Amino acid sequence: MELQALLSEAGRVNPYQLYAQLHSAGAASHLDVSKDGYDLAVFGYDAVNQLLRDGRFRQLDADYLDVHSPRWREHPVLQTLRDSIFFTDGPEHARLRRLVGQLFTARRVAVMEPAITKLIHDRLDRIAQLGADGDTVDFMAEFAYAVPSCVIGDLLGVPEADRGWMRPRVLAISAIFELDGSTWPNMTRADAATRELTAYFAGLVAQRRLDPRDDLISDLARLQAETPGVFSDAELIANLITLFNAGFVTTTHLFGNGLAILADRPELRDELVESPERAPSYVEEILRVEPPAHFVVRYASSAETVGGLPCDEGSTILVMLGAANRDPSIYAEPDVFDPSRFDAGGPVTPILTFGAGGHYCLGAAMTRLEGAIAFPAIFERFPGLHLATEPPPPTQLMFRGHDVLPIRLR
Ligand code: HEM
Repeated sequence: MELQALLSEAGRVNPYQLYAQLHSAGAASHLDVSKDGYDLAVFGYDAVNQLLRDGRFRQLDADYLDVHSPRWREHPVLQTLRDSIFFTDGPEHARLRRLVGQLFTARRVAVMEPAITKLIHDRLDRIAQLGADGDTVDFMAEFAYAVPSCVIGDLLGVPEADRGWMRPRVLAISAIFELDGSTWPNMTRADAATRELTAYFAGLVAQRRLDPRDDLISDLARLQAETPGVFSDAELIANLITLFNAGFVTTTHLFGNGLAILADRPELRDELVESPERAPSYVEEILRVEPPAHFVVRYASSAETVGGLPCDEGSTILVMLGAANRDPSIYAEPDVFDPSRFDAGGPVTPILTFGAGGHYCLGAAMTRLEGAIAFPAIFERFPGLHLATEPPPPTQLMFRGHDVLPIRLR
């Protein structure tokens, strides 16, 4: 496989053509690490699923970076990411996952449903006002960004007035995850954003210690005080920053990608409005065909086999979630958007959009709930909604979605 084909302009615009070619060739492929940055790519559904569930394949954690990139601690952004649940493994990860996981229970998500529903309808009211005279409205700014940032902001306890300030900083950090994104200018911007967000969250934590509220920052600060040594201040702040980021960059793209898919499929929209109970199938299919995050990365902690290919100890592996979701041996006609695949009684092979195994996304239930409330509500409220102009295709590969999506309501 040539990773360069994916990084080309054509590959960025339509990675799916390349994904289809990959599936006809096998489940994994060796790469040229000097050119591509990774030793292997894995894209077959079963191979990806197995690898993510196998603890011998680890995150690029502090142990890995100490050997392969010894000056990484000079970058605040890398330090913060490595202090977070996302980039730890083994006992450290288990400790952080227990702490953070107990806050994302099914009960907590269920409790949020009325607030999420109200928030969604408030945003639709605003869109109705903005678009009343036939003016175009940017769906990304007014809905796709606004809803998840409010949901995660309310959950964590980040004041509404501060969320606009956070957006460019969050995007600066996301930019380094792009496949060719760790450039010097990007790293410099991400480091600056991390310093600012660290100072910001440290201030918020100090306030909540004095004046606790019913939010996740207060809960985490309380857990830390009740069990000294359970996690450090740096870990507390790192996990708040990464939770806030993870909480909406991806969900924003679920909304934007879903709208772009459904905008010119009136028959599917009508079906959804008539049968809103099918919304979870729609959300699942949007997440399968246009996943907001296409890749995760692992390294092999010992010599292993990946998708039938030998892989040396220390090899880095690009795990292609977006490609695995289009594996034709799992999903018939994988490029066709068909929500009925996930209707009750249909095939139940889970999508890999939220990962699998020990690092499986803690926000999956919340995201699915947001999507299942939003999509029927949008099309019921605005039956004539359409795209004002054909949006340029997304060109990011990692966090894949639209920057702007101009819509008209009729
Ligand atoms: C469409 C929306 C989302 C997508 C596509 C998504 C995707 C993912 C993926 C692929 C992983 C696994 C990373 C890995 O294996 O290396 C992950 C982990 C995680 N996600 Fe999400 N996510 C979404 C929304 C959210 C939300 C809303 C939250 C929080 C409120 C969240 C919090 C987390 C956390 C804390 C982890 C780390 C779990 C761990 O490492 O143990 N995510 N997510």
